[in-house]
Order: sequence, then structure tokens, then C-alpha cells
Amino acid sequence: MNPIHSLLESFYEETTPKRGLPAAAYKDTEFWRAECASVFTRNWICVGFAHELQSTGDAVPVTVAEHPLLLVRNTAGEIRAFHNICRHRCLTLVDAPKNVGKLIRCPYHAWAYDLDGQLRAAPHFGGANAHQADGFDRKKNSLVPVRSHVWNDWIFVNLDGTAPDFDEYSAAIQSHLEGMNWDKLNCIGTLDFGEIACNWKFIMENFIEPYHVQFVHASTTDQPLEDHYTIIDGNCMGSAVDLEEEIGTSGSLGVSSRYLTLYPNFILGRYFPDQLGVYLNIPTGPGTMTQKRALYTTEGQTLTQDEVEGLKKLWWDVHKEDHEMTERLQLGRASSISDEGGVLSPAWEDSVRAFQEMVARDVTTAGQN
Ligand code: FES
Ligand SMILES: [Fe+2]
Repeated sequence: MNPIHSLLESFYEETTPKRGLPAAAYKDTEFWRAECASVFTRNWICVGFAHELQSTGDAVPVTVAEHPLLLVRNTAGEIRAFHNICRHRCLTLVDAPKNVGKLIRCPYHAWAYDLDGQLRAAPHFGGANAHQADGFDRKKNSLVPVRSHVWNDWIFVNLDGTAPDFDEYSAAIQSHLEGMNWDKLNCIGTLDFGEIACNWKFIMENFIEPYHVQFVHASTTDQPLEDHYTIIDGNCMGSAVDLEEEIGTSGSLGVSSRYLTLYPNFILGRYFPDQLGVYLNIPTGPGTMTQKRALYTTEGQTLTQDEVEGLKKLWWDVHKEDHEMTERLQLGRASSISDEGGVLSPAWEDSVRAFQEMVARDVTTAGQN
């Protein structure tokens, strides 16, 4: 049997309650590679914030499924995505966010590409002062584009080009965001958490189950468990809390909220009446990922600097509380006790199971489209 299929045997056993994914799904290189070849390749992956590429020539590198990519704002003002690989000897072109000016220049032999990826110069390639060579076609050596889509402030890529159009792909999450006036979306700050020592799925699963909130976020939230419910709507999984009235004290969260994901890695929190938070989750290996959070207002309100700082502090603390748990979930996967994945609450973690079933379906069909 295919090793990934046999690894998932315990996951597919009919048990009550259901089990979670086996430990190997969170730590094995083989499982990670299968995710790279399926989950992160055939779906729309959120890879960046458009607000980090404000000006023409701004370039941000990001690695997805072990493929170094480059996001660039071109002269037409559009964000484009390319493989961040020089077509000469395949060096990674840009290694840190920067403004490249009009040309993306390779540091090794100075090949230069314009902001639409066209190769403009390959100096001395044919000999001293001979910038051409027999059979060498510049057009065939341009940067390799990656299918991309910008939804509001969020940049998505689809590596293999086979995902449905983004509007179709994101229809479910969009239906849970009805009434949003996207024109008023305003980023008021970004938090950079750097590397988190856990598999990316723990962060997703943690976000879409409301079970932990009252215990882990006791000091940062005021949202009673009984007011929560889970959401499972195609590739949009999450949870919600509906409150009659705002009950948050200053410095804690106590408003009606929607915690929504777009499979596989996009996370959006909507906090009524007027705020939004979006996580940029980049898986970097079986046991590591990076994360940022952008904070938005949605109704055009203006906040004082103190209010912004207060929100940043609140969200920093909430994320850190979650990271402590997800890193300990990772540590737990070193033990054979976790081989079969633990059990999932039928009331609060059915959304987690739905997410895991999507991952399981993708990895068992890696290489097929
Ligand atoms: S590797 Fe880029 S110019 Fe040589
Ligand atoms: Fe949490």
C-alpha cells in the first residue's frame, strides 16, 4: 500500500468519537513532501500582504512548498508572482524584501529582468562585450510566472495553475463575509511573530475550534463557550460566536466574531462591528512555520495611536497564548502515545476533522489532478 495511505489508516477507522490525524502527519518528511506536492500546489495559498508592496519595484520573496517565489509590484501597479529563480544558473534572485528599482538584477552574473519578468540583459553571455550567443533566445529565459490573485490586501498563488478561478474557490468564505464594505478596509498595523515551532496544521486547527478559547484565552477574551458554534462550509471551516451585546472589558475581546479559514492556509477573523484580522501563515517544514497578523478597520473609523497600540498588544498576547499550545501539540507528537492522533470533540472539533479530511484527501491524491 502507498505509505501515505497506510499512515492514514487509523484516521479513516470508524470510531466514535473521531480521531485526529496521526502524529506522522505533523512531523514526517514524507507527509510534508506529499503536502508540498498536493495541498500547497493545487490550491490557492495566501503568500503575502499587498500593503507590503506599496511602490513600483517593491519585491518580497516567499517560499511555498519548497519553491522560492518572488512577489513584485510592476510598473502598471499590479502585483505579479514569479519563481524567484534566475534563468542562468538558477540562483535565488531576491533574498530579502526590498525595492529593486526598474530591474530585478541577479547578483551572480548580472542578468536583469524587468518587473514583468522579461529578461532584459545577459551581459557578456556570448563573450566580452558580446551580449548575445548563438541559439540563445532571451524571450525563452524570462522569469517563470506563477498564477496569482490579489483579494483585497491578500496575495494568493496557485503553483500548478489548476485551481478554480479565485472567485469560485473563495465563494464559501465570501458568503460568510456578506455586508463587508471592502472599500473601507484599512490596515492599521502588522505583527510579525517570526518562526513558530509547530506544523502549520496546528495553527489552522487551533483557529477553527472554539473549544480552547475559554481556557487558553481566559485573560484576553470574554466569549462564553456556549455562544460559539462551528462552521463547515466546503473549503471554509471555522467557528463563530454570536453575542447579544458587547461584553469585552477594555483590553480583552468580547464581541460577536467570525473565525474563518480558506483552505488550506488563509485565516481571517472578523470582529463586529468594525475590525478584521488576517494571518499570513507560511509553512516552512514539517515542524516549522512563520506567521504575521495584519489588523484592519472596516468602517472607516479613525483610531488613536494608543488604541492601535492597545489592539496590537491584545493580539500579540492572544497569538502568544495560542503558539504556546500549538508548540506543545508539536512536542506531543514526539511520543508514541500520539501515533493515532488523539480524539476530537463531536461538538467543537468537527470543523477540525473537516479540515483534516481535506488534507488527507489532498495528500492521498498527490500527483493526480
Ligand atoms: S545565476 Fe543569475 S546571472 Fe548567473
Ligand atoms: Fe486561540
